[in-house]
Amino acid sequence: MDATPPPPPSCRICAGEVTECLDLGPQPVSSGYPREPEEDSGYRFRLAVGVCSSCGMVQQLEEIPPTRMFGGSYPFRTSTSRHMEAHFRDTADRLVRGLRGQRDPFLVEIGSNDGSLLRTVAEAGIRHLGVDPSSAAASPDRPAGVRVLVDFFHEETAKAVRDEHGEADLVYSANTVSHISDLGSVMRGLDAVLGRDGLFVCEDRYLADIVRNTYFDQIYDEHFYLFSVRSVQALAERFGFTLVDAEHLGVHGGSLRYTIARRGTREVSPVIPALLAEEHALGLGDPSTYLRFGDRVRGIRDGLVGLLRELAGQGASVVGYAATAKSATVLNYCGIGPELLPFICDSTPEKQGRLSPGTLVPIRSPEAFRPYPDYALLFAWNHAEEIMAKESGFTEAGGRWITYVPEVRVTGARS
Ligand code: TYD
Ligand code: ZN
Repeated sequence: MDATPPPPPSCRICAGEVTECLDLGPQPVSSGYPREPEEDSGYRFRLAVGVCSSCGMVQQLEEIPPTRMFGGSYPFRTSTSRHMEAHFRDTADRLVRGLRGQRDPFLVEIGSNDGSLLRTVAEAGIRHLGVDPSSAAASPDRPAGVRVLVDFFHEETAKAVRDEHGEADLVYSANTVSHISDLGSVMRGLDAVLGRDGLFVCEDRYLADIVRNTYFDQIYDEHFYLFSVRSVQALAERFGFTLVDAEHLGVHGGSLRYTIARRGTREVSPVIPALLAEEHALGLGDPSTYLRFGDRVRGIRDGLVGLLRELAGQGASVVGYAATAKSATVLNYCGIGPELLPFICDSTPEKQGRLSPGTLVPIRSPEAFRPYPDYALLFAWNHAEEIMAKESGFTEAGGRWITYVPEVRVTGARS
């Protein structure tokens, strides 16, 4: 009897047909850092990505149950670098300036985390509320004056916020809503809480930058959707909104800040059609773009593993720098464990003394970076400038940095 092929997966946003085009699995939960090898639950999922032929949304095909993702080990998303702190201070200043002229404005932040953005908003005396389920949000250590509802943002919580505080003039979110597979509930929540002339400002890593630079390690469990102008526009339209503006940001290797308004309330910036044309030229809606991306990722894997083996053969020492979520994808996809990388240094106290998810590479404090190794594999390439400046003694002593996106490179090496 002939087995009928399974039906193609359907889009979580628009139920259109999704074509699978990239497989980086099996992968562990990227935020699960076991203390001992025995503590690794062994849970793995297939990190597979597809593109919707109808709305263009790039999405994962397998969903991790939220109970596995946001377990007790999720308190690590605090302000990680000076650069990001400055970015969020600047963002908060701009949001505050935009609200100043209004009478008693109200700002909601989805995914307010440790309150670093809302601190500036609170200091400006602006009425606000963060909505965030994490322990960082619940922590009594969060900045004074910052108000938080410790919960997921969905339709019901949004209605409760509106009933208690009134309509929001601005809803802001950074690097959060792309994690939520049920984006429909977020959009209905937005519809419930946003005032008639309110704005939703949302920033996230930009698919075009990921594709252009082969940033395959931006793909891990939490980044369920990879946003583009086309897919965010389609999402907004579906729920009665319009994408009215987009601004390119340098953070995380390239992000877009989207501005969404209720339909018919604002002019659409000419930036939107210009970006749509660029995305089309880049082939972001075309599955073959991601098949070629996959070829480049395999090339990076072979190059990186080959380099680490060669260096091991020469007796050179190599350590990892920064146990990012991105490194979970790299290590597990490439099959790099402690035999090729004895440890990773990271400044986050909660990660130190633990093991990297899946491949169980020990994580140590940055003090373990001295005496310097011969090579350092940099997983926080988004903070490269800051880290390389901080560790200038390493290169002065002859140490070399290894980076792997957009391709495998060694600093100071002749190309
Ligand atoms: P992050 O930029 O949030 O990347 P991801 O989203 O992939 O986790 O993580 C940065 C990591 O790098 C964090 O674990 C802290 C670490 N780090 C250092 O160890 N030293 C540094 O100087 C900086 C800036 C970051
Ligand atoms: Zn779709």
